[in-house]
Amino acid sequence: MTDRYAVIGNPISHSKSPEIHTMFSEQFKGKPAGDMVYKDRILAPLDGFAETIERLRKEGYKGCNVTVPFKFEAFQVATQRTGPAQIMQAVNTLKFFDDGRIFGDNTDGKGLVRDIKENLHFDIVGKHILLMGAGGAAHGVAQPLFDINRNLAVVNRTVEKARHMTDAFDKQDQTTVNTYEELVGQRFDLVINATSSGLSDEMPPLPPGIFAPGALAYDMMYGRDTPFMKFARANGAATVSDGLGMLVEQAAESFFLWRGERPDTVPVIATLRLP
Ligand code: ATR
Repeated sequence: MTDRYAVIGNPISHSKSPEIHTMFSEQFKGKPAGDMVYKDRILAPLDGFAETIERLRKEGYKGCNVTVPFKFEAFQVATQRTGPAQIMQAVNTLKFFDDGRIFGDNTDGKGLVRDIKENLHFDIVGKHILLMGAGGAAHGVAQPLFDINRNLAVVNRTVEKARHMTDAFDKQDQTTVNTYEELVGQRFDLVINATSSGLSDEMPPLPPGIFAPGALAYDMMYGRDTPFMKFARANGAATVSDGLGMLVEQAAESFFLWRGERPDTVPVIATLRLP
């Protein structure tokens, strides 16, 4: 029987996951990995996530993606978790086994790193990196970035939240936590916006001169030109990227976990960029 998958969130109508996974599965037409359907966007009630997962399992789904605000609850329902999921205490991919086990992974960090390395051809190793934000989005990517590059600075308006986040890191001693004022005079090769500021069309209070020569400015948001992206262009960033590639790469990691094959992300990103 064709395996079924879905994405769960609240709200959920905006999700591109069904579109992305359908394009992935078409790459494996006629092969076992392509024998799947991913078309459902499931709006779970805010107090009904675990029940929704139970229902999907009973209906025979093989797994799902989980988005805001349920990534922490998804961590709770998983009976086995990968290292990244454990560190972030948050899960975006669930795989259901017939014997009742639920495997939980968090592919956000891997997706970001792959997009930066493979699609944008930016080598992270040895670079001076600034991660902006300390909410759910930043939590998802902080440790994988740190694993590759110990030279990581974190900035957040509420500094205590950033400290709390970095305290959870493995070997956090080489990470610095900053206020925005403390960034004056500092320069970074890679600046990642993991704040939700773009949603409200706001600009985090970054000082000018923050971008080193050749710097990459990366906004994890997609679908809009954020004030951060405009600021980066006006302040000398060599490359400015939104988070569409990360979205597709984290989906590819989920696909690999479920189907055992790695899809080609390049044509999928290109299709999603079409006007
Ligand atoms: P998400 O899950 O998208 O990360 P969140 O958990 O609510 O959402 O976290 C939002 C993050 O964006 C926080 O780091 C927040 O900073 P504070 O912790 O200081 O509130 C940050 N943020 C939101 N709007 C911002 C703005 N205009 N300037 C700077 N940081 C902003």
